[in-house]
Amino acid sequence: MNCAIGSKVDLESFDEEIARQYRACVEDLLDHEKVKKLDLWEQHNHTSRLQHCLNVSYYSFLICWKLGWDYRSAARAGLLHDLYFYDWRTKKALRSNHAAWHPRVALDNAKRICEINPIEEDCILKHMWPCTPVPPRYKEGFVLTMVDKACATMEILAAPAARVIRAKESMEVE
Ligand SMILES: [Fe+2]
Ligand SMILES: [Fe+2]
Repeated sequence: MNCAIGSKVDLESFDEEIARQYRACVEDLLDHEKVKKLDLWEQHNHTSRLQHCLNVSYYSFLICWKLGWDYRSAARAGLLHDLYFYDWRTKKALRSNHAAWHPRVALDNAKRICEINPIEEDCILKHMWPCTPVPPRYKEGFVLTMVDKACATMEILAAPAARVIRAKESMEVE
């Protein structure tokens, strides 16, 4: 996994300044076995939970970096905001309250693998707003919650869009 969906920046590149900056914020997390394990779970359509978290992390980082806000906290909270290991669609007890429940699970899991600062904690806990009643306390949290929704939409639409493009290309070849 080299890129966030929709981005051409190779996050493993040593030539690109933005990739180096991003990696400096989250390298320890990307190497962590628990974060890597997110790749086993599907999040939206054919997008893994790890790819989704990387998307949210990178775009939240990018926006906060450009605005001069706390981009490190945004990047780290983005990567950890969905750090849970179950499928809410099949786990009966969680189907009705998954939106409110999983940010707490993610925060508990995140605290087990690294130090979490107050901005990161608030970003993770409130990322489902306005599905949950209390809005984020920090501006980085507003960025993350909006980026989360934009990425989810992009991921849901990515597979059908790719199918349409492939079909169009095959019609042009015939
Ligand atoms: Fe979430
Ligand atoms: Fe998410």
